[in-house]
Amino acid sequence: VNDSVDVIAIDGPAGTGKSTVAGLLAERVGAHYLDTGAMYRAATLAVLRAGVDPADATAVGQVVGPRQIRVMAGSTGETVVYLDGADVSREIRTDAVTGAVSAVSAHPAVRDKLVALQRSHAESEFLVVEGRDIGTVVFPNAAVKVFLTATPQARAQRRHLQNLEAGRDSDLSAVLESVNRRDHLDSTRAVSPLRAADDAVQIDTSDLTLDEVLDRLTELVGERIGVR
Ligand code: DC
Repeated sequence: VNDSVDVIAIDGPAGTGKSTVAGLLAERVGAHYLDTGAMYRAATLAVLRAGVDPADATAVGQVVGPRQIRVMAGSTGETVVYLDGADVSREIRTDAVTGAVSAVSAHPAVRDKLVALQRSHAESEFLVVEGRDIGTVVFPNAAVKVFLTATPQARAQRRHLQNLEAGRDSDLSAVLESVNRRDHLDSTRAVSPLRAADDAVQIDTSDLTLDEVLDRLTELVGERIGVR
């Protein structure tokens, strides 16, 4: 029995090139790209705007529960995020949101809501889904599971360059510290910690170019679910 779902799951810590890889892979294989981190960031923005302590499970649940979070692809394939109908795509990338997102995303009330939203996307679309728990929790039957890794230094360097390219202030050592801190929080939390699914293909991207990673993944998708 083949009960796999039409999902390509891409998990891993921050700065492995995951977002870029997932977006371009989706384009190559004719799938939609779903950035689940953007959803957790939108929930975090709502919490910060409400002035609520990100560690307070009850208060966070009350703020996030009624919020409408929508994620879709913009005209050039970039992720556009709406919080209660307003475009917050830029605001969710600020340091304030990045600093609080691990705390907010650790609460079961937040995860339950966003996991349901993520699964609903797969009902109607062939998806490349990027996150931390996609292959383990959200889509355990994903047709393809990939876990990207890279050394902390390589990852911090990439984030730093991304920040500069996007016109944001950036300090490499601060980025490295933030990468390490977020990894620690994301992989030690009680609910859905960051970890590779047993059946995930692990790829260390430290010394690979973007094209090398994409070629490996395209090949993997071809083997597992064929070309569309
Ligand atoms: O991929 P990103 O940096 O935009 O993700 C932001 C945070 O959201 C990350 O630190 C952990 C959380 N996250 C999560 O808990 N589960 C996911 N599936 C995706 C992201």
